[in-house]
Amino acid sequence: MAMLFHASFPRKINIRKYSFSAAILFFLTLLTPKHSLLSLSLAHPIPPSTSSDTYDVAERRCYNPEEEEAMTSAGCKNRTRRGTAASEWSAWSKTCSEAVLSIARRRETGEWLKNVRRKIHENPELAFEEYETSRLIREELDLMEVSYRHPLAKTGIRAWIGTGGPPFVAIRADMDALPIQEAVEWEYKSKVAGKMHACGHDAHVAMLIGAAKILKSREHLLKGTVILIFQPAEEAGNGAKRMIQDGALEDVEAIFAVHVSHQHPTAMIGSRPGPLLAGCGFFRAVISGKKARAGNPHHSLDPILAASAIVISLQGIVSREANPLDSQVVSVTSFNGGNNLDMIPDTVVLGGTFRAFSNTSFYQLLERIEQVMVEQASVYRCSAEVDFFEKEYTIYPPTVNDDRMYQHVKKVAMDLLGPSNFKEVPPMMGAEDFSFYSQVVPAAFFYIGIRNETLGSTHTGHSPYFMIDEDVLPIGAATHAAIAERYLIEHG
Ligand SMILES: *[C@@H]1O[C@H](CO)[C@@H](O)[C@H](O)[C@H]1NC(C)=O
Ligand SMILES: *[C@@H]1O[C@H](CO)[C@@H](O)[C@H](O)[C@H]1NC(C)=O
Ligand SMILES: *[C@@H]1O[C@H](CO)[C@@H](O)[C@H](O)[C@H]1NC(C)=O
Ligand SMILES: [Zn+2]
Repeated sequence: MAMLFHASFPRKINIRKYSFSAAILFFLTLLTPKHSLLSLSLAHPIPPSTSSDTYDVAERRCYNPEEEEAMTSAGCKNRTRRGTAASEWSAWSKTCSEAVLSIARRRETGEWLKNVRRKIHENPELAFEEYETSRLIREELDLMEVSYRHPLAKTGIRAWIGTGGPPFVAIRADMDALPIQEAVEWEYKSKVAGKMHACGHDAHVAMLIGAAKILKSREHLLKGTVILIFQPAEEAGNGAKRMIQDGALEDVEAIFAVHVSHQHPTAMIGSRPGPLLAGCGFFRAVISGKKARAGNPHHSLDPILAASAIVISLQGIVSREANPLDSQVVSVTSFNGGNNLDMIPDTVVLGGTFRAFSNTSFYQLLERIEQVMVEQASVYRCSAEVDFFEKEYTIYPPTVNDDRMYQHVKKVAMDLLGPSNFKEVPPMMGAEDFSFYSQVVPAAFFYIGIRNETLGSTHTGHSPYFMIDEDVLPIGAATHAAIAERYLIEHG
């Protein structure tokens, strides 16, 4: 997730690129009762599975002890007569969930995933520099004999497992780290000064590699093709966009991705239908006037006054023009101009950010911010030039979960991990470049908990103290695999 914490201010403006004020604000919102996820009790990662009615039906249909000799170790059948071929299986069952989980739960799977994650954690690479991370992923894929295309978007990978035919379902992981100095003292601390996997993308990669392993071992059961997308530069915002340009979504009809979350106990899955994460954009405006001695204001065109009026007028957009039930934000976060106490300056530079949860509101905000700035400047005979950094892709549209894809994640998670390990969560003001995929194909984004008080994995993403409960890795891998495999069964 990107903008949640990292007020990544576009290059041209000279302020610290990563600020934590947004994180603090965000954290405060968590403490309000409405969003009180922190009060969730710690749940056991994988409680005994509890079945719903449909689940039982599928299970009964699925497994007949009389036919045991025909069952493969992978289990998971939907047969009505002896000798029915794998291609005729068509229901997901409890046996399937258990088969997927049993691979994930193997001791060697957990150890391997931890090692993979630790290697990546020790060598964090920033956006579009994920060369070693990408190489490590390809080495693991080679060992599993999984085919892939590389590079997409410089360091990205598109791998596939399954029949090679439709349907195609994608699962995605981001690979980039952050320009943060790790403050956690542990054996596998970042070895690169000033860089850290402080958002858990190392864990996302490990989980997707784990999913590849599980899916590969069940390839004969797949009713279509799973596309694994390893993308660069989530934090920079153009990773997803460039992956799409380079064909990452070719043939893909649905896509899923996970983000670790310190708000949920280890292995709890959270998501919601509809808008999940805000659209996020930044603006920078140069307000130009004419300089003059402060004692002779009539010789000036005062950009300070114009900019002040602009700041006030911008407040009216959300408060007067937006539906109060449609959450939006416009914040001016920087105001720079003049350095001589006796001189009205030529220019003032204003900067800020805006957020919204619907595509329409988001682009309306953008349009109105520009209009208000330009028109308000002209009231004071100044001019305004507004830059939204669209070319640099610091615009992230809202991440909107497709209802059907959300239902799919929910169903898979509840069947796999038990109903108590799924939680519908409120929308958040952060942003994710997964939104670019969700604009192209039906998509669902979900969280997986990494919070463990004993370990101390309670810090927010983008904190130098961020850490995860590594027990999440096999569960995340199993969840990915089940989401993909079951999607193919149910949409084939
Ligand atoms: C498999 O299960 C699905 C529903 O889950 C059912 O519609 C289908 O008829 C079953 N197929 C066989 C071969 O039993
Ligand atoms: C969002 O709005 C923009 C601008 O109006 C448009 O170009 C884009 O296609 C829209 N996306 C979706 C998913 O509706
Ligand atoms: C938290 O981590 C500790 C140490 O690994 C482990 O023993 C414990 O079971 C974990 N707790 C939860 C709720 O996962
Ligand atoms: Zn992230």
